[in-house]
Amino acid sequence: MVAFIVNNTPADVSVDADKPLLWVLREDLEILGPKYGCGIAQCGACRVLIDGVSTPSCIVPVGDVEGASVVTVEGLADAQGNLSVVQQAWIEEQVPQCGFCQPGFLVAATDLLRQNPDPSDDEIDAAITNICRCGTYPRIRRAIHRAAALARE
Ligand code: FES
Ligand code: FES
Repeated sequence: MVAFIVNNTPADVSVDADKPLLWVLREDLEILGPKYGCGIAQCGACRVLIDGVSTPSCIVPVGDVEGASVVTVEGLADAQGNLSVVQQAWIEEQVPQCGFCQPGFLVAATDLLRQNPDPSDDEIDAAITNICRCGTYPRIRRAIHRAAALARE
């Protein structure tokens, strides 16, 4: 049994503690925002916040999040359903193409703005190492700048 918090809701799962968090989220908790891309912490499609830090959930054994707070893309809006500034900016900039990689980008951008409220393009490129096969990077940069501006309003 592993107990942790997912999107502000307690979760108790009866699984092997070695099972990757990504598969616990998708298979056992049916939280499908985090995606499987590479399985080796390279593409970022599976990123979630673990105690506020953007982390590839494909390489984290669920036993390592015992007692922690996990936030997926589904948990970025507040309890009233108000979208976060990052989500708002993503919509305003019409970022996604196929959308597969986008949950991981939203999580990574949320963590970047927590650490650096007004990143430059170079700082965005250095911090956000996620891979998008559709090539949405220019719009992702614009959306992060927009989210930073929304947060300042
Ligand atoms: S699936 Fe986890 S980083 Fe690619
Ligand atoms: S939007 Fe298609 S892979 Fe990124």
